[in-house]
Amino acid sequence: MKKIITIDGPAGSGKEKIAKYISKKYNLFHLDSGILYRRVAKYLIDNKISYKNEKKIKIILKSIKKISHRKHITLRSENISNLTSLIAIYPFVRKFVNNQQKLAVSNILKKNKGCVIDGRDIGTKVFKNAKIKLFIDANIEIRAKRRHKQLIEQGEKSIYSHILKDLKLRDKTDINRKESPLRIPVGAIIIDNSK
Ligand code: C5P
Repeated sequence: MKKIITIDGPAGSGKEKIAKYISKKYNLFHLDSGILYRRVAKYLIDNKISYKNEKKIKIILKSIKKISHRKHITLRSENISNLTSLIAIYPFVRKFVNNQQKLAVSNILKKNKGCVIDGRDIGTKVFKNAKIKLFIDANIEIRAKRRHKQLIEQGEKSIYSHILKDLKLRDKTDINRKESPLRIPVGAIIIDNSK
């Protein structure tokens, strides 16, 4: 796992920016695992499937061979963000996304290229043998301000107090879920990205 760098951290900590920077600087493939969870959430919204309908979600995931890891601005909306952390508690959703990540990364490694992957459980679970692990954190109010600014810049409506409340809830869901909760990986370099 020499050629893998994992970056974990809470929502809005800036891990994506750091991952992008590292991937550019060292010519590594960047995989944002959150996008894969977001794509599953968007599929449920587009097809009007409740996140509570576990049976239906299982059937759908079984029928999907490959999910796109391409980013799109629509995947970053607040309703997708909130739904994403609700479906990310399901072990079968995590298994599906983890397999998708392993598939993408093994294809890249075959080409002798390295990868930087960001998410919540990359260093603790998905690629726990990675040589380099980072954990990015930042004060919650700063994370909420950044997110608020980003939404406004995208031309979306945003109310700071709502963003702060949503982030707190997402943190709570991500930290307290049974399956692969957000944790600092053993041996990770911790970076405070509040400034
Ligand atoms: O990183 P991003 O904010 O796009 O992730 C959206 C949501 O997807 C997170 O709040 C979390 O619930 C879930 N997620 C996860 N594990 C990952 C990546 C994302 O549970 N590795």
